[in-house]
Amino acid sequence: MPSPDSPSPNAPPNRRPPLDRFRSLWTAVAAVGVVAVVLVACTSVERAVIAPPEIEGAHFVGNGACVSCHTNIVRLFPDSPHGRFHREDLVRAGETGCESCHGAGSRHVAAGGGNGQFILNPGRDPEACLRCHVEIHADLNLPYRHPLLEGRVSCVDCHDPHGRDLMKPAGGLAMARLNESCAGCHQEQARPFVFVHEALQEGCVSCHQPHGSINRALLTDRGPNLCLRCHAQLATADGQVLIGKEDHAFHLQTGTCYSAGCHTAVHGSNVSPKLRY
Ligand code: HEC
Ligand code: HEC
Ligand code: HEC
Ligand code: HEC
Ligand code: HEC
Ligand code: HEC
Ligand code: HEC
Repeated sequence: MPSPDSPSPNAPPNRRPPLDRFRSLWTAVAAVGVVAVVLVACTSVERAVIAPPEIEGAHFVGNGACVSCHTNIVRLFPDSPHGRFHREDLVRAGETGCESCHGAGSRHVAAGGGNGQFILNPGRDPEACLRCHVEIHADLNLPYRHPLLEGRVSCVDCHDPHGRDLMKPAGGLAMARLNESCAGCHQEQARPFVFVHEALQEGCVSCHQPHGSINRALLTDRGPNLCLRCHAQLATADGQVLIGKEDHAFHLQTGTCYSAGCHTAVHGSNVSPKLRY
């Protein structure tokens, strides 16, 4: 794959070239990009480099051109994980700043701004994000996934694109906060129960993939393995299989832990401390 910044032949030896920082971004993006090339190879051979979204006739103007009208967002941005690898003085600044997600901004600025005015909003179309995050794109094509490509769920339902806390759900320790972005749409599973399954304290993502999965219901694992990660299984000499304090030797033959008749109330129960219903 072509390197966007080949080292300058004149660069003095043993000195950190000024573009080093930027190059490490490209290493990160390139790692993702390798997968990109493989995935897009059959559809479009040209897309070997991750190009920013195209806005016809527009060129890059840099974050400085946005500050007068979008002051707060420009101020927040340097603290966000995406902002950390951006520097205004880089040759390819447009490929890491505001315009890496929104597209080149010159025509938007010239038009005096405005919604839908020569600018992209990836809150409505995840394409801008997926150009760089090819691994997420692959997840969204798995048999079970959140309907992001269908436009029924958006990246910004769970991620804040501009602020420090890009990973909304992982930002706090409290259970409510951890599961907050999921609870907004899945009240049934996130509501309070008399007997809460303590697994939820580690977040919905301890059992569910947020983007897509090969397993039903976006589960991270299939069968009893999903549960045995946290609940040790102990085989005794007399043929018992202890999970908790109970012999499960027979139960394990009748089905998965959370299938009919067993711990079907896997998120929590108002009647059964064993999460049976
Ligand atoms: C990582 C991708 C990304 C980057 C980088 C980015 N944005 Fe955004 N931006 C988004 C997404 C996604 C939305 C939609 C947010 C929503 O719908 O809640 C958005 C929405 C907006 C909006 C309209 C809605 C609002 O929140 O007011 C403006 C204006 C905006 N961005 C400006 C900027 C500026 C200025 C920068 C650079 C300082 C920037 N963005 C950098 C992804 C990005
Ligand atoms: C002259 C003022 C001005 C400048 C400069 C400007 N914008 Fe805007 N922009 C606006 C206005 C006004 C809106 C309408 C929404 C609003 O009021 O926030 C808007 C909307 C947007 C939206 C939302 C578009 C949509 O369809 O939802 C994005 C994204 C955006 N701007 C990004 C940028 C970026 C990136 C830059 C810098 C390259 C920039 N803007 C520079 C005035 C400006
Ligand atoms: C120009 C390429 C590019 C674009 C476009 C882009 N990202 Fe990223 N994103 C990255 C890179 C590189 C990292 C790794 C940053 C780091 O580790 O500090 C990253 C990290 C992330 C992370 C993980 C942050 C963390 O704390 O681990 C999330 C979540 C994310 N991006 C979401 C998005 C979303 C949502 C969009 C679209 C609104 C988007 N990205 C657009 C390049 C991009
Ligand atoms: C349903 C909520 C949700 C939606 C929608 C969502 N994400 Fe995520 N995303 C998460 C969670 C939760 C994590 C943290 C996963 C973990 O810690 O295991 C994450 C992690 C990530 C990461 C870090 C790498 C990784 O796989 O852990 C990236 C990059 C990312 N998301 C990008 C995106 C992009 C791009 C979109 C839109 C196409 C998107 N996400 C939509 C919830 C979501
Ligand atoms: C913006 C709303 C929204 C958010 C936020 C959201 N989801 Fe979803 N979720 C959906 C939609 C829509 C579906 C698809 C339902 C369908 O196709 O009937 C879905 C499907 C699911 C499914 C599969 C359900 C089934 O019956 O197979 C699981 C599991 C799930 N989401 C877990 C989560 C988790 C965990 C989070 C937080 C990381 C989350 N969701 C955040 C809207 C959301
Ligand atoms: C201990 C593991 C675990 C945790 C933690 C967990 N889930 Fe689940 N979830 C499951 C299992 C198992 C299923 C059932 C899959 C099936 O249908 O067999 C399920 C099913 C679902 C479904 C599909 C509808 C249903 O009830 O069958 C949704 C939606 C869902 N979970 C959302 C969430 C949300 C939101 C959270 C966090 C508040 C969460 N889950 C936490 C294991 C878990
Ligand atoms: C992220 C870790 C984690 C995962 C994954 C997990 N659990 Fe739990 N579970 C716990 C914790 C912690 C407790 C409370 C302490 C205890 O009883 O071991 C608990 C308690 C229980 C209890 C109540 C036990 C009792 O005697 O009160 C049942 C039943 C249970 N889990 C079933 C399941 C099933 C079924 C699965 C798989 C769908 C599962 N767990 C997955 C962490 C987890």
